[in-house]
Amino acid sequence: PRILVLYGGQSSEHAVSCVTAAGVLRAIDTSRFEVVEVGITAAGQWTRPVTDPRSHSFDGAQLPRVEPTASSVQLHPGAGGSAQRSAELVEIAPDLSVTSLGRVDAVLPLLHGPFGEDGTLQGLLELAGVPYVGAGVLTSAVGMDKHFMKLAFAAAGLTVGPWETITARQWAADPEACLQRVRQLTLPVFVKPARAGSSTGITRVDDWSQLEQALETARKFDPKVIVEQGIQGREIECGVLGSAGGAAARTSECGEIVVHQGAESHQFYDFTAKYTDDAAAELSCPADLPAGVSEEIRRQAVIAFNAIDGEGISRVDFFYTSEGELVINEVNTMPGFTPISMYPQMWKASGLNYTELITELIQLALD
Ligand code: DAL
Ligand code: MG
Repeated sequence: PRILVLYGGQSSEHAVSCVTAAGVLRAIDTSRFEVVEVGITAAGQWTRPVTDPRSHSFDGAQLPRVEPTASSVQLHPGAGGSAQRSAELVEIAPDLSVTSLGRVDAVLPLLHGPFGEDGTLQGLLELAGVPYVGAGVLTSAVGMDKHFMKLAFAAAGLTVGPWETITARQWAADPEACLQRVRQLTLPVFVKPARAGSSTGITRVDDWSQLEQALETARKFDPKVIVEQGIQGREIECGVLGSAGGAAARTSECGEIVVHQGAESHQFYDFTAKYTDDAAAELSCPADLPAGVSEEIRRQAVIAFNAIDGEGISRVDFFYTSEGELVINEVNTMPGFTPISMYPQMWKASGLNYTELITELIQLALD
């Protein structure tokens, strides 16, 4: 099969996606899949890469990115109509001449954040009539929106931490009422854009005098903001892999993010700690947990996956408190996927290596 690997994108996680693509393109089983690479620039242009995406990394001075080009790439519904389940990729030159880049049988959208992981791209792929890896429109949208995600988890009986949402409309109507509502929470709180990822736009607030600035920072990424009460606990994650034909989703061994508390420590596991500061945190997998706790986390991960109608792939993030309580933090429907990211690490510890994992995900989309 011919697979379109899409990466980059318009969100604040553009660079993360580029590094994910580097890992996947180096590892994908090319004896099984023919790969077509298309990058999406920060401005949203689809383009054939100028720089080999395999070379993207976080090691250089500059964050990797997809360079704009003169020609654009577009996806069109396959000539055979929706029954054919494939789409045609075309390249449009500046003089508007069109060249076919051939048919694609499935899309691997290695995109994080808005316009990639939030259902919008998935809608485009539905309209183009081509199968794709990962969650569909609604699941992606719910998985991107920390407010609706929490509602879905709570409805499924999972424990979510105390939080308040401030929509753009609520803020415009009565900011003082919004601030008062938030001040009912216990410090510290985390102020987050409702729909972003990799900790962009997030501020830890230890004093209420910092709140308004934190809200403003978050609003730069999303007019809708959520404020979460800080949860004291270990950060434990679990990988979920969907199954074909209605079988139950599978879970990986659990992994733990161990954030180092050095002199230069980050206030939390922020973007720099996640990607550019090797000393800031460590992934420990399998996490050192009593067997009963791991099992319970894996059970709850499936509940969370089903709560948002998960498909294909998800990483479910929990806090495990010193009181032994599990509090769900979030689900990522396209988790970080570089070879050293938590999701592939957890599957490796569960007996599925990186290449096998990629094959499995694509196969799920094709089945
Ligand atoms: N949003 C980032 C990529 C993650 O969940 O790993
Ligand atoms: Mg997380």
